[in-house]
Amino acid sequence: MNEPKNIHPVSDRMLPRESRETLLQQKAKVFWLTGLSGSGKSTLAIGLQNELHNAGKLCYILDGDNIRAGINSNLGFSDADRTENIRRIAEVARLFADAGIITICSFVSPTLQIRELAKNIIGQNDFREIYVNASLESCEQRDVKGLYKKARAGEIKDFTGIHQPFEAPPNPWLEIITDKETYESSLKVLTQNVFKEITI
Ligand code: ADX
Repeated sequence: MNEPKNIHPVSDRMLPRESRETLLQQKAKVFWLTGLSGSGKSTLAIGLQNELHNAGKLCYILDGDNIRAGINSNLGFSDADRTENIRRIAEVARLFADAGIITICSFVSPTLQIRELAKNIIGQNDFREIYVNASLESCEQRDVKGLYKKARAGEIKDFTGIHQPFEAPPNPWLEIITDKETYESSLKVLTQNVFKEITI
């Protein structure tokens, strides 16, 4: 983090994160779902949210709906804009984790570099990378939002998987192959692994 000028820190008087984690009876982590558009990130994020919430855990989802419509509404899909998108999201996720909240991030975040940036901002100790792996063919075949069709027709540019690469994470904390496993089994594996991380 850059050293701000003329700002007097209050952090030494703020309660430590552990106090909030004790209050909430959970450990905060950032679960970062990466994968192609249409690979199932949002569906798994919602499923995980419901499992956590039903178990009395406080969590919050950051994804395109609440980020690109608001704080990042000035950003598109150029390399520079995607990097800035992820940088801001990672800073927000870092604050959420410091607040003691289990944070689920669901973003294409297509390159090794962009995810490295997120990891460095959030901190290795809190960052858990989850590769939501579905082949381009299966995402394009389902084309839930109709975006692949538009990208092929040239109506959308810089579309990940069509004009821009998606770099698969070589060593994710967890990989879920959504075009081979059922949703139920994917969610079960995800939930089991997440609970191991957030249990006090
Ligand atoms: S990221 O690359 O910067 O991480 P982000 O996850 O915020 O992307 O947004 C991706 C979502 O925006 C996709 O799921 C899709 O619905 C939509 N979208 C619109 N244009 C593009 C594009 N050119 N490339 C990828 N996704 C796009």
